[in-house]
Amino acid sequence: MKVTVIQGPNLNMLGLREQNIYGPMKLEDIHEQMEVFAKQANLEIEFFQSNLEGEIVDKIQECMGDSDGIILNAAAFTHTSIAIADAIRAVQIPTIEVHISNIYAREEYRHKSMIAPYAAGQITGFGPFSYHLAMVAMSQILTELHSMQQAQAATDEQK
Ligand code: DQA
Repeated sequence: MKVTVIQGPNLNMLGLREQNIYGPMKLEDIHEQMEVFAKQANLEIEFFQSNLEGEIVDKIQECMGDSDGIILNAAAFTHTSIAIADAIRAVQIPTIEVHISNIYAREEYRHKSMIAPYAAGQITGFGPFSYHLAMVAMSQILTELHSMQQAQAATDEQK
């Protein structure tokens, strides 16, 4: 099964950007750790980062028929983008929303997520470890989905 990790604006600057909030880890290092987990969990994984809202919408649409799960940190677009929220609704792929910082402990304009209502769940505030927690949760979701699909296939065969 395949998971696509989508990273929004300014996350390419992790390690350089506001280290007091986001820590010293670079995006490549986070992705490397996720890749290790994916291998252990027998998951295929793809990474995508863009600073452009439309490119993120395109990537979410491309996941249809290609990916079984999406891990999404839409960064600042989380709080503003109806287009990204609509794309998540449209593709109907289990999506986990991730944030490095605790968005509820920050400025009020970060307390609202347009994506959260359509996500399987939200992980926020654990630093780069948020991504690891998202991988654990996604692996569980996909295992459950897989066994449900197998049970359904077995029932269909009996008909
Ligand atoms: C963020 C939180 C957002 O509010 C912010 O705009 C980001 C990063 C996080 O991972 O903590 O760019 O999504």
